Formats: sequence, structure tokens, C-alpha cells
Amino acid sequence: MDARTMEPRKPEIGNSALYSDVIAGMSRSPKGLSPKWFYDDRGSAIFEEITQLSEYYPSRTERAILETGLARIEAHVPAGAALVELGSGASVKTRLLLNGLKGLSTYVPVDISEDFLHASAAELATDFPRLDVRPVVADFMQPVPLPDLGGQPVVGFFPGSTIGNLSPDAARALLMRLGEWPDHDTLILGVDLVKAPETLVAAYDDASGVTARFNLNLLRRLNREAGAEFDLETFRHKAIWNATEARVEMHLQSLEDQSVQIGDHVVEFAAGETIHTENSHKYSVESLSELARTAGWHLAEVLTDPQALFAVAILHRT
Ligand code: TRP
Repeated sequence: MDARTMEPRKPEIGNSALYSDVIAGMSRSPKGLSPKWFYDDRGSAIFEEITQLSEYYPSRTERAILETGLARIEAHVPAGAALVELGSGASVKTRLLLNGLKGLSTYVPVDISEDFLHASAAELATDFPRLDVRPVVADFMQPVPLPDLGGQPVVGFFPGSTIGNLSPDAARALLMRLGEWPDHDTLILGVDLVKAPETLVAAYDDASGVTARFNLNLLRRLNREAGAEFDLETFRHKAIWNATEARVEMHLQSLEDQSVQIGDHVVEFAAGETIHTENSHKYSVESLSELARTAGWHLAEVLTDPQALFAVAILHRT
């Protein structure tokens, strides 16, 4: 017999940051994992699919609001302004604003993914020759240092209701940090609104199972990069509306009692137990106004769609 087959198999841990994060998350009660790990190549591609789903109303609704509200938004953008976008800088939404806001002179996309950022910045620089495009690689959960913009007025752009993926306390802290950027007096913020729970849950648990694939891809990633041995057939995607916290929660639920090997740890799951993987907080105009107020901003204008599904709020610094 080959001697090597007699050794206990050592699962390979390719991503030590992911590994320590998952071990910490599995040791908590209830179990949880940071949503930042969703976005490997496969996860990012599935996320693109989510934004096209008929149940996933936020993307198309926000785009329609930006389109119809462009003139109203433009009234808040001073001549010679720099637009600073937090998160992905290649979207249709960005192009809408860069096309429509004639007063802009600079575009500063901020993203944590360096390759993606530089590729999309180069494309935008070609397509918008009148704009100075100055990408910044940074994690907006940390203080983001802006390049020297020579006193240009700064307009922030934070679309996609990404602020809803933060707890209200973390959202407030982020808004306060953004208020510390020099010359930053106007912020365009996309926020999903509270509505019927059926509509909310369907947006995060679509009939064709795309969001389920997105959530379960986390386990696949743990198997590949963190030495885990999850059986994907024994977990299911679950989306619930938590009315007390005004958020949709996403979980991965174990269908049976089981022990899962993760590196040199063994993690126990009871049947029905979940790993909490994401929150998407929903706001009303009132709760958003309160969040802004306590962070040193106020709502100057709120643009919404005819069904009041989604809001694009324009905040001014107080
Ligand atoms: N911020 C958006 C939302 O909460 C997009 C998003 C982030 C998302 N994480 C997600 C959508 C997980 C589906 C699943 O809707």
C-alpha cells in the first residue's frame, strides 16, 4: 500500500484570511459569515445575474429614477464638481450620471478590487474625454483618502442600496466619515424602501434560484479556499424579512444534524440551524432622514419611482 494514503488527509487552506474569518464566524452563536466573501469571480458573475432578475426590482428602479430625475439631480451639482463613487465604477448608472451631469469635471471611482477598477476607469476615460478620471483603490469601510482635487466641490455617489448592507450604526459611521472629505457637501444615495414583505423576500429568493446559487457559492468557496468539506446538497438558501430590524436577512440553513470539517476544526450543525450571511436594511423616508440627521447630513430631496419601491436621496451636509 502507498504510505501516503495512510496519512490523514490535510485539507488545503489557500486563503488564510477567509479561514480565520470562517472559524471565528462558526464559533459565534448564531453562526455568521461576512458578506465580503461572496465576491469571488463566480460570485461576482452571479451577482450580475441577480441585478437582471424580474424579482430583483432595485437595480432597474434605481436606474429609472436616475434617468427621470437627472435634471433634479443636476440642480444639486455645482459647476466643476468631482463625482466620487463608492463601489463598482463600471455600471450603467455611472454612465447615466457622467453623461447627464454636464457640470462634472472629474470622476473618482473608489473600489477595493484593483484590476477591475483600473480596467473600468480606463474605459470610462476613453468614453468621457472631457472628464479627469482618477481611480482610488480603497475599502470604503475604512477612511478613504481622496486625491488632491484642488478645492473642487465633491459630490458623493453611493448607489445600489449598498448602505443597506451595513447595520444602521455602521451606516451612520460611514456617512460621518464621508462628511469629513474636504469640500464634500452633496451626496447622492440610493436606498431601498420598506414595502410588502412578499415583494422584499421574493427579491432575495427568486423563483429561478439565482440568489440561492449566490448564497451557496460561499460554501463552495470555503471548500475550495478554506479547507472546508461542506456538502452543498445539505444546505439551503433562506431569505426572511425581520420586521423588528427592518431588514431582509439571508441565511444558509442546514437540512440535517451534521458535523462539517473545516481545516482542523469540526463544526456541528443542528437540523434547521443557519449561518447568517447578509443583511439588506430597508428604510422609510423618515428613518433615512433620521439616519442622515444623526450623521451630520440632511435630506435635501428624495426622488422615488411611482410605486415608491426605491429612493435616490440627495443629502446636503448640515
Ligand atoms: N445592496 C443590494 C441589496 O441589498 C445588493 C446586494 C448586496 C445583494 N448583497 C446582496 C443582493 C446579496 C442579493 C443578495 O439588495
